[in-house]
Amino acid sequence: MANYEKEINRRRTFAIISHPDAGKTTLTEKFLLYGGAINLAGSVKGKATARHAVSDWMEIEKERGISVTSSVLQFEYDGFCINILDTPGHQDFSEDTYRTLMAADSAVMVIDASKGVEAQTRKLFKVCVMRKIPIFTFINKLDRDANDTFELLDEIEKELGIATCPVNWPIGSGKRFQGVYDRDRQCIITYSDTEKGTKEGEIAEISTADTKALEAAIGEEAAGILKDEVELLDGASAEFDLEKVQAGELTPVFFGSALTNFGVEFFLRHFLTMTTTPLPRRADAGLISPTDNDFSAFVFKIQANMNKAHRDRIAFMRICSGKYEASMEVKHVQGGKVMRLSQPQQIMASERKILEEAYAGDIIGVFDPGIFAIGDTLCMPKEQFCYEGIPTFAPEHFARVRQLDTMKRKQFVKGITQIAQEGAIQIFQEFNTGMEEIIVGVVGVLQFDVLKYRLENEYNVEIRLEPLPYEHIRWIENKDVNLDKLVGTSDMKKIRDLKGNPLLLFINAWSVGMTLDRNEGLILSEFGRD
Ligand code: G4P
Repeated sequence: MANYEKEINRRRTFAIISHPDAGKTTLTEKFLLYGGAINLAGSVKGKATARHAVSDWMEIEKERGISVTSSVLQFEYDGFCINILDTPGHQDFSEDTYRTLMAADSAVMVIDASKGVEAQTRKLFKVCVMRKIPIFTFINKLDRDANDTFELLDEIEKELGIATCPVNWPIGSGKRFQGVYDRDRQCIITYSDTEKGTKEGEIAEISTADTKALEAAIGEEAAGILKDEVELLDGASAEFDLEKVQAGELTPVFFGSALTNFGVEFFLRHFLTMTTTPLPRRADAGLISPTDNDFSAFVFKIQANMNKAHRDRIAFMRICSGKYEASMEVKHVQGGKVMRLSQPQQIMASERKILEEAYAGDIIGVFDPGIFAIGDTLCMPKEQFCYEGIPTFAPEHFARVRQLDTMKRKQFVKGITQIAQEGAIQIFQEFNTGMEEIIVGVVGVLQFDVLKYRLENEYNVEIRLEPLPYEHIRWIENKDVNLDKLVGTSDMKKIRDLKGNPLLLFINAWSVGMTLDRNEGLILSEFGRD
């Protein structure tokens, strides 16, 4: 057990989130560079082509040159074993992006200093807040002209509703970017545009108490501005409080430029001391401690047909406690079966590697012969508990599915149900009819194409999708509600999910409020529960 503990306690598992183009890939690449996982930065970016070799399960990925699925990277740095969960960076992200956050202990949010908080960050952020995931902010691209620093912080606080605590502070931006001020050590670290792809850069550290040296380094004017800003900052910003950070109430903020490597290692070093070891997880039997319990894991993602030749599915699971050893027997609680996990592997950039052992905090992918569902628990054969389910996230786009050849009804129902089970889409029925009218809901519109493509290619069924105008879906929390008596608005639609739970669709947010007003005691939720 003691051996587990050491391995588990050096693990740090986090998701990296951003709006497309903020610099998530570049930052990840630089992390790997510092960790020595790659010699030259660029390999991650290069995976744009290499990655397809692994996940060429769908032509759409290739055609559009984007990754529909998310991957996991593991690397070592300074004695830590770090797992980064990548989230699809394209605007058309899916529910998987949200689910990935369920498998992480913290999140790193990358923000473009000239753009501020953008749409995708906002959405992912909501999920972090719901789960109280600690959030670390890296404000990137300081080598380009940036927005006013105070305004950026203000925006994060207002838009995301979380207090900020800058760990360092930028000195200028764009052509006038001169480095950062380290608040803790009260010194400046001068900027050097290190050659792209190398980690060596000439940086100097100068104490701000040494006015002469400071002015000599950054100029009198910049030194004066810095002094004023630091005074203002010390008076106005929230004090650093690790407990608040770990409760997801305060985000430490770092400034840097991933492209030129500036501020990346500073971030990594501080982040690793502030983020948590793998956290205990709630199960029906109470909290399961990562170090005091034997192996357990839960499935957070299922990916179909990564290898076209085999039509296989891979179930990604987060190990929550103990140690996994190859060929060990585990129990799939929901299926009620004891089994050996088949070829557990880690997906490292574009390669897969078969694992001999893995620990709490790690993510493994196993071949799934079609038995796992999202949220399923695996544990030791002698144990019996289930981890809390993963919520269903609200789709934002809806379409009615029309099957073109009604003779293929069986394949159609089988196909669409299987695809829904993998979690890429959600399917609903009209409130009063059966499977003849199917409504499909997705988080990102790309999933509509994925559905159409897969039904045609894997199930030989052609469909037509008719977009519906709804944008808001709400689960009904009240157990005893009579849907027939519910008074809605004229644009409201009553539907059911596959488990028979009633839901409501609305065209606009106003109607949601109106319906709540008209039905006393009605409780609507943006997240569905298992
Ligand atoms: P993403 O994963 O969040 O979508 O962003 P990615 O890292 O791919 O970065 C998007 C673009 O921003 C890239 O340029 C990248 O080089 C650039 N970038 C990232 N970090 C910085 C930074 O600190 N400073 C500056 N100036 N640029 C940065 P691109 O032209 O789209 O791609 P590429 O041709 O350079 O690879």
